[in-house]
Amino acid sequence: MTEQYIARRMERIVPFYVMDLLAKAKQMEAAGRSVVHMEVGQPDFAAPPPVVAAGKAAIDAGKTGYTPATGIPELRQAVADYYSDHFGRAVDPRRIIVTPGSSGGLQLLMGVLINPGQEVLMTDPGYPCNKNFVEFVSGVPVSLPVGPETDYQLTAEMVRQAWTGRSRAVLVASPANPTGTVLSREELQNIHQVVRERGGVLIVDEIYQGLIYESEAFTALDVADDIFVLNSFSKYFGMTGWRLGWIVAPPFFVDSIDCLAQNIFLSCSAPAQYAALEAFSADCLAIFEERRQAFRRRRDFLLPALQRIGFSFPVEPGGAFYLYADCSRLTGDSFAFAYDLLAKQGVAVTPGKDFGSHRCSEHIRFAYTNSVENMAEGVRRIERYLAAGAA
Ligand SMILES: Cc1ncc(COP(=O)(O)O)c(C=O)c1O
Repeated sequence: MTEQYIARRMERIVPFYVMDLLAKAKQMEAAGRSVVHMEVGQPDFAAPPPVVAAGKAAIDAGKTGYTPATGIPELRQAVADYYSDHFGRAVDPRRIIVTPGSSGGLQLLMGVLINPGQEVLMTDPGYPCNKNFVEFVSGVPVSLPVGPETDYQLTAEMVRQAWTGRSRAVLVASPANPTGTVLSREELQNIHQVVRERGGVLIVDEIYQGLIYESEAFTALDVADDIFVLNSFSKYFGMTGWRLGWIVAPPFFVDSIDCLAQNIFLSCSAPAQYAALEAFSADCLAIFEERRQAFRRRRDFLLPALQRIGFSFPVEPGGAFYLYADCSRLTGDSFAFAYDLLAKQGVAVTPGKDFGSHRCSEHIRFAYTNSVENMAEGVRRIERYLAAGAA
């Protein structure tokens, strides 16, 4: 069998470069070398003990069958309560669809909203999978270059200018990956208005919503009820491998999303859903708040430490756990830099190329999903690497 058996869409769906880098890092560690990891986009905190206990209890109680495709009613209600308790926003639990991570949510939304040939506008740099979810439904991802002038986010004006007769949706993330920047409520309102005027839909990925450090945490649901919101138990709730997230959809779309979810996922993991119920308990929320503060301290350590050794940050990120560093004073090729840094000093970071093509060779993403102590060691190693003459 040869390539001819592989569907053509796979030519446009590329793996993460960082996976290769991670594999190299693991090989080095297996050979006894120490590696400081600042490439991984998942919290180094595991699911809190009450969540784990609830997951085990669900398994012991035999709650291991299929669930409704939209999720167990208790979890949909718990998510709705979370919006009313934390954002003062009443949401009908029937609008909440539990998904296999926000990845599952993105897949469902693209499947339900995008016809072949229709465009979805998004940022470059941005979360690398976004364009692939669009490709998967034969849509056309349109990556709009963004920079520090707009906090690496789309603006209503950019959307207005890029919108064509084929455009159907705008996808934004706040806080964003890889830049950690937050969209203001006003800009989101303006983007929503432009999208609505043109008869499109706005999708807001709020996967890092719990990890906002300074500005007011709000949900796009405050801006309008016809926005599609994605969220996940992966980041703030520390449950990456449990594969659970949710969509909040306008009521009209719930049945179609339910229908597609039934067909492609049947249901999410039942034990994970029962475990996630516990994530909203006061004990767990207190743990998440401590972790949020820890991430903030890490950011406040890493950003100036990297600035001191030559990286620059035209915008200080207000959320998530990423720093998107401009490394143009140190190298003109962040890809080669990342590989060389790993090989010579055992520090793993993600080259800008993973997030798009706009000025990607001048950027590196640092994930502060590691302790201050380990990151301090990472910074010392980068300093040594630079002193010896970078790639
Ligand atoms: C912006 C963004 N959206 C979606 C995802 C998908 O996460 P998950 O499927 O674990 O919820 C990620 C993961 O890193 C992300 O950074």
